[in-house]
Amino acid sequence: MNEYDHLIVAAQQARENAHAPYSNFRVGAALHATSGRVFGGCNVENATYGLTVCAERVAIFKAISEGERGFDAIAVVTDTESLTSPCGACRQLIWEFCGDIPVILSNLKGKTEFLQMRNLFPKPFDASSL
Ligand code: THU
Repeated sequence: MNEYDHLIVAAQQARENAHAPYSNFRVGAALHATSGRVFGGCNVENATYGLTVCAERVAIFKAISEGERGFDAIAVVTDTESLTSPCGACRQLIWEFCGDIPVILSNLKGKTEFLQMRNLFPKPFDASSL
């Protein structure tokens, strides 16, 4: 049991709610707030395709809308052999709202990889660029 196992389990549970009838690619995320609260998110697709929201951003928006501001880790779970890393849009928002946090990727077989946001999103455009 490592310190992020609970977050991986929360992301697995969130993935159960994925609404992905178009891609059939189900994603779960779980965001750990410094308050101790955990916010799950799943991908939510729709018939326009383009208005789809990824699991990571759903978790972030849930947390922000609940008043949370500090975050210290996010887990992303898919049922794939090769682990899924956040898309570019999600990297922008994870960086802006969470900064240089660890990103834990995992699949349903328990394969896990730890990444760090500064490596996933080098040379960001953010509030300090304005
Ligand atoms: N997706 C996520 O939810 N998170 C990722 O990190 C990658 C992609 C979703 C969006 C879409 O519903 C499906 O996966 C296929 O792209």
